[in-house]
Amino acid sequence: MRAVRSGLAALALAAFAAAPPPAQAEGDPARGETLFRPCAACHMIGEDAVHRVGPHLNGLIGRAIGLAAGYEFSETLAAAGAEGALWSEATLDRFLAGPREYFPGTRMVFRGIRSDDDRAHLIAYIAQTGGVAEAQTAGQGTAPDPEVASIVALEGDVAYGAYLSSECTACHSASGGEDIPAIRGLAPSVFVTGIVAYRNGTREHQVMNTVTRRLGDEEIAALAAYFASAE
Ligand code: HEC
Ligand code: HEC
Repeated sequence: MRAVRSGLAALALAAFAAAPPPAQAEGDPARGETLFRPCAACHMIGEDAVHRVGPHLNGLIGRAIGLAAGYEFSETLAAAGAEGALWSEATLDRFLAGPREYFPGTRMVFRGIRSDDDRAHLIAYIAQTGGVAEAQTAGQGTAPDPEVASIVALEGDVAYGAYLSSECTACHSASGGEDIPAIRGLAPSVFVTGIVAYRNGTREHQVMNTVTRRLGDEEIAALAAYFASAE
């Protein structure tokens, strides 16, 4: 499960890095509007959109997966976002082809759209109507959240991080475990996104919520610097 999730996140990041700016394929937004009708049973998009059964889809392209503020995502989507995965045209295309194949455990009940063309039309409609997240237009991949960005910008003290890490390595051993992810070598932006999601409760896990609520920004930056450098 872990490997799958990290793999997806890596894929999403790779797709994002490789994708040229917005230039979406030949999707026709007008046809996409018709195709969006079944989605509208659960999702809003455009001006004044709010969360309903599903999250609103404004700014979707370039937005972190499963992290829209004020919406309770399944653990699966929240975890992908906490690892830094973003919605790009490529990840969205794969998700819409088969939501449950792409994210086993998603709460979205939708069988998927077989036709490549229909998915392209739909994605063109979503991009046009809901716009593209600022993070992407700014060429900024993994830190959509200002709180995360400000911590990532801090100069983490590796030695202080090493000192603090003894509290973490009791659980996070070098190789990770059955239910405990490996955190060594994580990019600081991914690490900090995860920690902040636990600290503010967007991502729920009792131990991690408790551990992170005690950490200040400087301490998180120090830990991020240490774990990024740790082999
Ligand atoms: C029956 C209700 C329902 C329908 C129909 C539906 N969705 Fe969803 N959708 C959801 C729910 C619930 C979630 C949250 C899933 C989770 O947390 O695992 C979701 C999540 C999503 C997400 C992830 C958003 C994010 O911020 O990570 C996208 C993208 C999405 N849906 C697009 C669509 C599109 C496009 C369609 C139409 C082709 C559609 N959905 C149809 C209920 C629905
Ligand atoms: C009592 C065991 C325990 C301790 C102590 C602990 N963690 Fe965790 N940590 C976990 C578990 C279990 C998860 C996975 C939770 C989940 O499924 O969301 C996790 C998840 C994480 C993640 C997200 C990783 C990912 O791939 O999504 C990060 C980052 C993290 N921990 C960092 C830390 C740091 C830094 C410390 C020390 C300050 C720490 N943890 C202390 C058990 C622990």
